[in-house]
Amino acid sequence: MRAIQMHAYGGPEVLGLDEVPTPKPGGHDLLVQVHAAAVNPVDWKIRSGLHVVRYRLPWILGLDASGVVEAVGPEVTRFAVGDEVWSSPVHNRPGTYADYLCINEQQVALKPTNLSHEEAASLPLVGLTAYQSLVDMGDLGPGQRVLIHAGAGGVGSVAIQLAKHLGAEVITTCSSRNAEFVRDLGADQVIDYQKERFDEVVEDVDLVLDSLGEPAFAANLRVLRRGGRLANITLDVGRHVARYGRSLSFVSLVGVLAKLHLWPLMRKGVQARHVVKRSNGEQLGTIAKLCERGVIKPIIDRVLPLAEVQEAHRYSATQRARGKIVLTLGR
Ligand SMILES: NC(=O)c1ccc[n+]([C@@H]2O[C@H](COP(=O)([O-])OP(=O)(O)OC[C@H]3O[C@@H](n4cnc5c(N)ncnc54)[C@H](OP(=O)(O)O)[C@@H]3O)[C@@H](O)[C@H]2O)c1
Repeated sequence: MRAIQMHAYGGPEVLGLDEVPTPKPGGHDLLVQVHAAAVNPVDWKIRSGLHVVRYRLPWILGLDASGVVEAVGPEVTRFAVGDEVWSSPVHNRPGTYADYLCINEQQVALKPTNLSHEEAASLPLVGLTAYQSLVDMGDLGPGQRVLIHAGAGGVGSVAIQLAKHLGAEVITTCSSRNAEFVRDLGADQVIDYQKERFDEVVEDVDLVLDSLGEPAFAANLRVLRRGGRLANITLDVGRHVARYGRSLSFVSLVGVLAKLHLWPLMRKGVQARHVVKRSNGEQLGTIAKLCERGVIKPIIDRVLPLAEVQEAHRYSATQRARGKIVLTLGR
């Protein structure tokens, strides 16, 4: 099968299109023929080598897939050959930039029937991240105020739609070119972070979905009401790894996590968590239903052929994408 393999840690040029053996499904695995995958910032962060996740090379990256079940392991009970499925699988198995991959059936759901494979592939990782931040951790409900940073990005664009569905008042940050776009997604208040500081125009927020990380910790705490919640999804791991090396960066990152969790609690009774996306087929099933009802719509910046993965990584790393960058396998 075709697969994009990472042959070294470094720039986009370490990604190459290779012929590799098709994997064989284990007991609870589905062998999925991938129709489309997506690029996420974590892909180029890992590829750069400035991340705590390291693989024995060569390695196939990719954490989003939409495709068709080609074969099932002997213990599989929930899916059958021919099912159209989507998934954001786990980190520690070969990824989705390939013709086929094996995924445990617990991490898979039926793809939304109203979406193409390209559209569907844009959603699992960011959809689960938004769901686990706003619903699981954030407990967001009607009438609450949520600040969603980077509303025009992959996570932010889904989070705005989900938060509106939950009945919340949505405040978001973006540059001026994206202001109308995030309003159309449902944002009630838009802050152009290039022109004003969000902590000078926002207060009494119940929940912050923070994709900015350490530089915004103090400002996020200022805008939160006493007893609010902070769901952080970004730590600048690359800066810590570059500064301290991989081993010592674990120590400094534990320090950052301790500060993230304890400082807001002590200062304002704010519950803060670093949320890491969990692969969860059941939640993906819920998200699929929201897509079918038109509550969540895929937001795609561009679709590129698998062979143009280097360009897809370069573009993602600009951090200017509006929604998602999708890779099509050309089926
Ligand atoms: N913990 C987890 O499980 C998890 C899961 C998913 C993502 N993440 C992390 O969350 C972050 C966001 O991910 P993503 O997929 O949404 O990224 P993305 O799609 O690449 O985000 C791009 C968007 O970020 C906006 N942006 C850039 N700088 C900004 C700033 N200073 N303030 C507000 N908006 C800004 C840009 O809008 P403008 O062009 O308008 O500036 C652009 O639309 C990344 O660091 C990613 O690694 C973590």
